Amino acid sequence: MGSSVAELELAEPYLREVLGTVGLDVEYLRASGNTLFYQDAAGNEVPVLDLACGFGSLILGHHHPEVVARAKELLDSQVPVHAQFSRHSYANDLAAVLNRIIARETGSSEPYWAIFGNSGAESVEISIKHAEMERGARLAELVSEVEAGVAAARAAVGRGATVAPEVFAALGLPATAGFDAVADAVTTRTADLTGRAPVFLALEGGFHGKLVGSIQLTHNEGYRTPFTRLAARCRFVAVGDVAGLRAIVEQESRSLTVLTVDGDAVTGVERALPVFGGFFVEPIQGEAGIRVLPAEFGAEISRVCEETGAPLIMDEIQSGMGRSGAFLASSRIGLRGDYYLLAKSLGGGIAKSSVMLVRGERYQRDFELAHSSTFAKDAFSCHVALKVVELLEADGGAAYRMAAERGAALKSRLEKVRGDFDDVVLDVRGEGLMLGFEFRDQSSSPSAQIAQTAQEGFFGFAVAGYALRTHRLRLFQTASAMNTFRFEPSIFLSDAEIDQIDSGLRDICALLRAADGERLMGT
Ligand code: F0G
Repeated sequence: MGSSVAELELAEPYLREVLGTVGLDVEYLRASGNTLFYQDAAGNEVPVLDLACGFGSLILGHHHPEVVARAKELLDSQVPVHAQFSRHSYANDLAAVLNRIIARETGSSEPYWAIFGNSGAESVEISIKHAEMERGARLAELVSEVEAGVAAARAAVGRGATVAPEVFAALGLPATAGFDAVADAVTTRTADLTGRAPVFLALEGGFHGKLVGSIQLTHNEGYRTPFTRLAARCRFVAVGDVAGLRAIVEQESRSLTVLTVDGDAVTGVERALPVFGGFFVEPIQGEAGIRVLPAEFGAEISRVCEETGAPLIMDEIQSGMGRSGAFLASSRIGLRGDYYLLAKSLGGGIAKSSVMLVRGERYQRDFELAHSSTFAKDAFSCHVALKVVELLEADGGAAYRMAAERGAALKSRLEKVRGDFDDVVLDVRGEGLMLGFEFRDQSSSPSAQIAQTAQEGFFGFAVAGYALRTHRLRLFQTASAMNTFRFEPSIFLSDAEIDQIDSGLRDICALLRAADGERLMGT
């Protein structure tokens, strides 16, 4: 007889097993600030300094007292959490305060309209849909123009006008073909090209979520390729490769022929087709290994978007909400998005929410009637987000200054460690409280154990397990750059916590330098 269902571990047991191989399957029972607590075998509470901080969703730390107080107040006063299809003034207040911040940081006063969601990937999916609605409107205009051109040309031919030879050539027709063949070719080509899925643009190393559409914008092949058959195509551009970007744009660009009447000649003009669904950009790439987008390349992306009409979709899900030292990391490199996506810290560590903000000129108001989610724009998460933004904006943006100052203090310590161990540390990168610490590849370490974990892609897990067991540090590598550890603590990071990070990292570096695989693996 098999095990009964009650005995089976049913919630992602394989993942727990993998975490368990290096001792990461600890159950945390309490959290406060930058600290998570578990209980040891004797029942004592053990503090762990949490540097993953909810994968970047805790700019104010775990259970910030004012966020918690607001949440309690909401529940105690029986605020209707779900009252779909009614007036949501709190959602409007949140959109208004986000607009004021965008205006301040970008210098633009054009409004951004808000559509709420529940998670980061959901806001990415929402933006994919909205961008496609926008593209659909432009396609429909083009189709009308093509149809009007065909009708005008047909009337002109009826009056004795002739079709110019280059029109036949452009349509791949013999010069002897009649007008019906020309009209047919124009209409068929228009239907074919306007019926195709859009092509998205995104950056190599980029991470934009793991849902059906968004996973195709996430560069990591292991996550993406099993599902490529499900969604629209994305072309990935190497950061900094202007020629490569231009080549992709040229390869993917298509045009439609619009017939025009010029006296008694029917000629054709080529109109660019809006093939690009959108250009997804993280101003600081998170999962790629914490990489700040160079301002010049950001400007090039902006130009490409302007030239092709593709919306620039700024994924600030991880970099936004003050982490970089400004509310929007993109504003620090002078980049303005057509869309902004926010999530993670928007929920203050206790709510789950996200928002897409779309620049006025591009906004499709019909989208509001076409898209919805039961849980989006709920009162609880909007009120909590309002409190988070209020805390970030308080005292003239003291929180942003703290992110910059605490981040600089941590970064300079990470750089000192790198200076002392440059045989094992490759790089320290990032802005504010979004920092990356990259070890050199250990796959040819003299320790067979270390070399093997690196070759199998488990180096990050092994180091994380060691850091937790030995230093009570919760470290994680970034999802697609396996030798880079992410540091995304809250703005309340203390000097003592920086000391703890410093001594833990120095020990790990010494261990790698000594190629002490047994100590790393705890064997
Ligand atoms: N965009 C970015 C830039 C992200 O970092 C993430 C998630 C998402 C979108 C998707 O958001 O998880 O709420 O659906 N990053 C996680 C991380 C996986 O580890 O930082 P989600």
